Amino acid sequence: MQQPLSRTLRTTEEAGVLQQTREFFNKPRNEAKASPRPIEKFAFDEIVRLIPKGREDQTALDLGCHWGRISVWLALSYGRVIGVDFAEKAIRSAERRRNIEYFCLDLNTSADQLGQFGAVDLIVAIAVFEMIENPAALCRQLAKVAKRSCKVLVVITNRISANYVSLRIALWVSRNLLRHPRRIHNNGYSIERLEDCFTKSGFQVQEKGSIVGIPLYLVGLLPSVLQATFLKLDRLFLSLLGGSYHWICCQPKAEE
Ligand SMILES: C[S@@+](CC[C@H](N)C(=O)[O-])C[C@H]1O[C@@H](n2cnc3c(N)ncnc32)[C@H](O)[C@@H]1O
Repeated sequence: MQQPLSRTLRTTEEAGVLQQTREFFNKPRNEAKASPRPIEKFAFDEIVRLIPKGREDQTALDLGCHWGRISVWLALSYGRVIGVDFAEKAIRSAERRRNIEYFCLDLNTSADQLGQFGAVDLIVAIAVFEMIENPAALCRQLAKVAKRSCKVLVVITNRISANYVSLRIALWVSRNLLRHPRRIHNNGYSIERLEDCFTKSGFQVQEKGSIVGIPLYLVGLLPSVLQATFLKLDRLFLSLLGGSYHWICCQPKAEE
C-alpha cells in the first residue's frame, strides 16, 4: 500500500535524525582525558546511588552504555555485566573490565536479540529511553529477559527542565548558525508515559523521583571552581526548578 507523501517525508526526516543521533554519540573515548569535571562527577554520583548493588552470581544489563562509565560501576558488584549500544566506536573504546561484555546493538531494530544474554537480575537505562523510537516495544522485550526478581532503573531527561531547554538551544544554534548538523532524537516521552509502557509490559513501578536540580549544561560552561559552588546549591535548585532527570525503578509484577 502506498504511504501518503507527508508520512513518507516525516519518516525520511525521522530516519535522518536517528542517523544523526548515532553519529553524535559514535566517537571513541579519549583515554588521555583528565579526571571528570566536578559537574560530571556530581551527576554520575547522583545516578549511581539509585542503582541497587549486585552479587557475584548476578547479571546486569546496561542499555545505551556508551563508553561504559555505568558498566564499570556495575562491574564492581555484579559478576557479569553486559553493555549494549548502537554507537560502534564508543563500544570499541569503552572501558574494559574482566566481567564486562560489550555488544553493538540497535535497541530500535534489534532489541529481540537481548534474549541471547539469558535472564538478567538488573537492567539500567540511563538517558537512553528518550531516544528510543518505540519505548513500548522495548519494554515488551525487557519483560522477556528480566528475571522475576529483576530490578529496572530508568533515568530520562526532564523535557521541561532548564537543563534540557538550554541544551536544545545550544544544539539549535550549532545547527542553524554554525552549520554543524547536530541533532539528538527525543521521542517526547514524559516519565509518566514511560511508566505506563512498563506497567503494560508487566512491570510494577516501585519508586520514582527527580535528580540534579542545577542546569548541568549551563553550569558545565563555567570554570571548575565555580561549578563546585553551584553544586552546593543543588537541593535549592531541585526544589525550585525540579530535576534535570526523572527516574523510575520497577520490577516484574508478582504473579497472582
Ligand atoms: C546520553 S548517552 C548515555 C550513556 C550512558 N548510559 C551514560 O549514562 O553514561 C545515550 C546513549 O544511548 C545510546 N543509544 C541511543 N539510541 C540507541 C539505540 N537505538 N540503540 C542503542 N543505543 C542507543 C547512544 O549511542 C548513547 O551512547
